[in-house]
Amino acid sequence: MIELATPAATHAFGRRLATVLHAGDLVILTGPLGAGKTALTQGIGAGLGVSGRVVSPTFVIARVHQGGRLPLVHVDAYRLSSLDEVDDMDLDVAIGDSVTVVEWGAGLVEQLSESRLEVRLARRADSEVRELELIGVGSSWAERIQQLLAAD
Ligand SMILES: Nc1ncnc2c1ncn2[C@@H]1O[C@H](COP(=O)(O)OP(=O)(O)OP(=O)(O)O)[C@@H](O)[C@H]1O
Ligand SMILES: [Mg+2]
Repeated sequence: MIELATPAATHAFGRRLATVLHAGDLVILTGPLGAGKTALTQGIGAGLGVSGRVVSPTFVIARVHQGGRLPLVHVDAYRLSSLDEVDDMDLDVAIGDSVTVVEWGAGLVEQLSESRLEVRLARRADSEVRELELIGVGSSWAERIQQLLAAD
């Protein structure tokens, strides 16, 4: 478990996570309202160097950010019934060429990729501290998580 004491710490963790991301990666962010899923995605976007502000995708389902090392596809799965809907959305990038970050995606998008990183964010009562857990599925995630934690 990693403690993120401030919004700045969450942003910095996102930037560091971005350094180990590859084309085709799926990152699933889970956690309650206000846990920091969008804040973390903003850090990932900054780390990838994408242009345009990363905001909550709530009203668009998916938003593509280009101009960085890899395109970032930011998805709000809240109202999706399946990630096939994102595949069918005719985005101007392919998911296989991009990093796809899904908020609220647990239990929904696993079928999209055999390999994925699940990031679980939790809040504590009356505190800014966020607790972050990483669960990697797929061969290269174990190494990449180790790499991330070693840099801590
Ligand atoms: N340690 C922290 N890390 C991240 N955000 C924090 C932290 N402490 C306080 N915050 C605040 O919590 C809020 C997190 O909001 P954010 O939109 O990122 O959450 P979310 O998980 O995406 O919520 P939603 O479910 O509505 O999409 C922001 O207002 C942020 O400033
Ligand atoms: Mg959000």
